[in-house]
Amino acid sequence: MKNYLLLIFVSALVCVNAQTKNTFSIIPMPNLIRPMEGKFVLSSQTKIVASDTANYKDAFYLRNFLKEVYDVYVPLLTDYKNTSNAIVFNYDATGTYKKEQYDLNIQANKITITALKGGSGFFYGIQSLIQILPLYQKVAGNPPQLTFDVPCVKIQDAPRFKYRGMHLDVSRHFFRKEFVKKYIDLLALYKFNTCHWHLTDAQGWRIEIKKYPLLTTVGAFRSGSMIGTYSDQKFDDLPYGGFYTQNDIREIVAYAKQRHITILPEIEMPGHSQAALAAYPWLGCKNQTVQTAKAWGVFENVFCSKDSTFNFIKDVLDEVIALFPGDYIHIGGDECPKLQWKACPTCQARLKKEGLKDENELQSFFIKRVSNYLKTKKRSIVGWDEIIEGGLAPGATVMSWRGFDGGVEAAKMKHDVIMTPGEFCYFDHYQAQPKDEPVAIGGFTPLEKVYAFEPVPASLNDEEKKYVKGAQANVWTEYMATEEHVEYMLNPRLAALSEVLWTKKENKNESDFLRRVQNHFALYKLRNINFSKTLYDVNFSLKPAFKNNVLLSLTANKSLGDIYYTNNSSLPVSQWSKYDTALMVPSTVDFAAAVLKDGKLQGKILQRKIHINKATGKELKFKTEPSKYYNKGGAFTLVNGIKAVLPRINNEWLGWSGDDMELTLDLGESTNISTLEVGFLNEELNWIYLPRELEFFTSEDGLIFKSLGNINTAQIKEQNRVVTLKTETLKTRYVKISAKNAGKIPSGKPGAGENCWLFCDEISID
Ligand code: ACM
Repeated sequence: MKNYLLLIFVSALVCVNAQTKNTFSIIPMPNLIRPMEGKFVLSSQTKIVASDTANYKDAFYLRNFLKEVYDVYVPLLTDYKNTSNAIVFNYDATGTYKKEQYDLNIQANKITITALKGGSGFFYGIQSLIQILPLYQKVAGNPPQLTFDVPCVKIQDAPRFKYRGMHLDVSRHFFRKEFVKKYIDLLALYKFNTCHWHLTDAQGWRIEIKKYPLLTTVGAFRSGSMIGTYSDQKFDDLPYGGFYTQNDIREIVAYAKQRHITILPEIEMPGHSQAALAAYPWLGCKNQTVQTAKAWGVFENVFCSKDSTFNFIKDVLDEVIALFPGDYIHIGGDECPKLQWKACPTCQARLKKEGLKDENELQSFFIKRVSNYLKTKKRSIVGWDEIIEGGLAPGATVMSWRGFDGGVEAAKMKHDVIMTPGEFCYFDHYQAQPKDEPVAIGGFTPLEKVYAFEPVPASLNDEEKKYVKGAQANVWTEYMATEEHVEYMLNPRLAALSEVLWTKKENKNESDFLRRVQNHFALYKLRNINFSKTLYDVNFSLKPAFKNNVLLSLTANKSLGDIYYTNNSSLPVSQWSKYDTALMVPSTVDFAAAVLKDGKLQGKILQRKIHINKATGKELKFKTEPSKYYNKGGAFTLVNGIKAVLPRINNEWLGWSGDDMELTLDLGESTNISTLEVGFLNEELNWIYLPRELEFFTSEDGLIFKSLGNINTAQIKEQNRVVTLKTETLKTRYVKISAKNAGKIPSGKPGAGENCWLFCDEISID
């Protein structure tokens, strides 16, 4: 018993020691890692020993890596009796190791990787080993370093999820083959096993199809691109385009395979297909000339459901299948406007002939027909969650992007699911306050949010949960024109996602991840990989406090420094106050905050105004609750003293789809007021419209309300988003605001016929 206790004490000491030395910064965190005493010395005397051809490719990969990055040539032997000073591939003799499982045992005299013969475990063991090696940069002209110390450790590891994916959109912006390889290298570093390649969309067709050459000679090029935000509606007129030849694709597929990554190609249908129609107008319903799209967004020109279009799709898929050896083909299926199908005699005849109820069922018919064809070729489809609408094709895998609901529905129907909900997995969203960030599509997905992502919804029972095969993040590139920008949006959120996908929930630890990820920053710098440092930024949140005060909480990653703040940002940071606990804000303030370490600014300075007024923190009730998609902070969002910044991040707004906004605010006691202000958003391109009518009311008892008159909505337009009403000073306890939704989107506008959104950000009363 005594010895047992001593053992625990000693091993705990060793662990703490290793942690404080920050020796190990492996991402994703291995599921079992035990730092040991001692070190292995890697040099040109070291050998790699792999006695079976099944994993030679992995051994070659390691040998080449050591040569390229460390300038050490470590020979590869197939038969070497004396395995000291060697990196030994040990083939699982028990037959119990899973395909992706590995053990990595670094001892002073040898390194052993144990894994299943022919599986991916050796490669993952190598990736962990690579992350343990000291960082090194060859310097031209300097003599090479001859030995490298590798700390001893025992690792036993296997992934939590079977599908660990990352997506890359090469349609909106095209990226060179070399960059796609760099992207794949990053995925390999973090033990991803799937790269979802979004090859076709309205803005460019990027895969050579021999039978239809115009797809690339015409469809891969556009006459200009959108610049700035979508709302700006500005374009350049620079011809833009590019595509991958079939040889390029074979090269990339092989490169990925060497890294145990399957490429999942996406050929979009029936929507997002305007570039194909630009090449071959007969693929559409109208047989009219269209251009490869210059603008971002969704277009009405989609594949027709006629037989000749299906034959084209079959031909394309035949060539796709020959290039991509994986079991799955992604056929898109999202965001297909049905307007042209409604007006198309061929589609309407199809509807009748097949006994289909409506165009949603026609979409389902389309997807099923393609799915059936692929089945004859021994391939299964993956599609975005819209493929559920109108009936899911048998055997289809659903990628749930509009939240978790599609995935839940599919799992309950016993279909495989890949989770990629926008809120957590869209790496085209902002990762920090937009003010100092490059233009992004919108949304807010900071690093902590990605790390906190749980792919398996609690609403599924244990049987249903098994259908969630994993998750992926998406890199839509409308707003990423350069490789550097893609890398900026990717890193380090990619590292956070890898840990969600690989590491068991109970072994995840955010603060330890933040420690490790900073060491990866050094690696990114060495390998010329761009990354965002927003993890050093300060975030804020507000809570109502007594009367109309608010409580301001500042959060940052503690391990990175301390938060300092000021209400006078003209002062040097050395004169700012250290933040310990939430701050009471009794009156309007311009605050600034930042993380400092040893007096040095780490990230960016957060600057916001909190406008304390008579409405701040007061109770308000809605007649109709906001949409669940735009109700992050609840009613307090409208009286928290913060006016939303543009570009929009959604947690600063409440939104109603089709519904009016009617709210009643209780000031708590009869109060003198003379100014009422409310902010709405005017962003018609994103279906968000100013209210059609606006009216303020007052009441002393909350029962009988007196109108202050209708506000002219033309006046709102002039003022863009904030409506102010000045009155004679009057006394009231309750204020009611009624804002009428603009209704249906008028024809000729994006989203014509759909419900208008009404977005409100803040009410202030003085
Ligand atoms: C998607 O983001 N339209 C799948």
